[in-house]
Amino acid sequence: MRKLKNVLVTGGAGFIGSNFIHYLFGKSTSGEKAFEDANFSGRIINVDCLTYAGNGETLEDIDKTFGSGEKDPSKRRYFFEKVNICDRSEIERIFKQYDIDTVVHFAAESHVDRSILGPETFIKTNIFGTYTLLDVARNYWGVSLDNPRDDVLFHHISTDEVYGSLGPTGYFTETTAYDPRSPYSSSKASSDHLVMAYYHTYGLPITLSNCTNNYGPYQFPEKLIPLMILNMQEKKNLPVYGEGKNIRDWIYVEDHNRAVWLILNNGKTGEKYNIGGENEWQNITLLDKLIELTAKETGMNESDIKSTITHVKDRPGHDQRYAIDCTKIKTELGWERKMSFEQGLLLTVKWNLNNKDWINHILSGEYLNWVEKNYSKR
Ligand code: NAD
Ligand code: DAU
Repeated sequence: MRKLKNVLVTGGAGFIGSNFIHYLFGKSTSGEKAFEDANFSGRIINVDCLTYAGNGETLEDIDKTFGSGEKDPSKRRYFFEKVNICDRSEIERIFKQYDIDTVVHFAAESHVDRSILGPETFIKTNIFGTYTLLDVARNYWGVSLDNPRDDVLFHHISTDEVYGSLGPTGYFTETTAYDPRSPYSSSKASSDHLVMAYYHTYGLPITLSNCTNNYGPYQFPEKLIPLMILNMQEKKNLPVYGEGKNIRDWIYVEDHNRAVWLILNNGKTGEKYNIGGENEWQNITLLDKLIELTAKETGMNESDIKSTITHVKDRPGHDQRYAIDCTKIKTELGWERKMSFEQGLLLTVKWNLNNKDWINHILSGEYLNWVEKNYSKR
């Protein structure tokens, strides 16, 4: 089991990263404690430049208890740095200042449709940003093939989209050849290759995970589930791409983060692990479930909502089906999915209905005022 003392989390103000930080500090984001604590005793340094998708407010409770709210500096365990991962000198400063021994790299441009509209930031952040982190880690840790270390680790968070698109049968395994189709998945595939190259060429201790579609609290309302819940409340159309028959494998965000935590502690250096929900749904069927739950929770009329389903032009290069074989992480690390889809979806619908302020702030950019108020520029 690795000792994780000073953990640099990139993209910790985004959806999965903020849930990861809450999980490590033993806080449930759904309001219902679903899982055991991680028993993490180290420090977290959250590096996030707060793009449209990052919201510092999400970590307010963590900051109060473990960050700036902790008056004894020697006991402080949470730090936030508003820094772009492409900024090498700032990343070098952070490694030195906090003596980083572990990196958990979530930061990315994450939305496929945005990558189709404008790939450039995806190339910058997902490829050049990952390279910058890898290279600074290699130098700071002083590793090489002749000087291996087992007390430091770089964990890279990736996606099942790097494997391309499946037909009606079969699963992606860790040895499936990469076949990305969108600018987003291509940029993630490039970053995965860089991570493996730093392991083979420079002996950087790395692990890598490729996960399916996450859902849960604090997801930006451009992704399917929170977008649909929001549109239902605002009586807007529910845009279904094409026939709505594309299939995604859905995993509750905390199940993903528990898998990451297991890899950090016990994953084998140089290995990649697939993480999946074993929970495949056609988009249109998932939407039916969401409509049923939202109608029940709000008292809205189910068939009124259904009448707003609108089939729109398909996403170009729309991958038909993703499905993960996660035998490896189950057998080697003892991971299993704990959240049922029924319970997870209900928690997610309730969270989205009960957190309109968070949603309005992140959509309006109002949270940036909070950043200005709380973090003075260096
Ligand atoms: P997100 O878009 O919600 O959050 C991304 C975070 O990264 C934001 O806080 C943003 O401000 C930050 N960021 C972006 N560019 C940055 C930069 N240049 N420097 C510093 N910070 C920057 O994304 P997410 O859904 O939480 O995804 C997190 C990671 O998980 C990504 O690497 C993504 O590829 C991967 N992933 C996501 C899913 C999913 O279903 N959402 C599934 C599998 C893998
Ligand atoms: O598989 C993992 C990936 O899952 C992650 O790597 C990405 O970061 C994450 O965004 C997600 O990608 P998807 O493209 O699968 O997620 P999205 O929520 O955008 O779309 C899910 C499905 O719903 C997809 O088939 C497209 C469809 N869709 C999406 C939107 C936003 C619609 O039909 N209508 C919509 O309005």
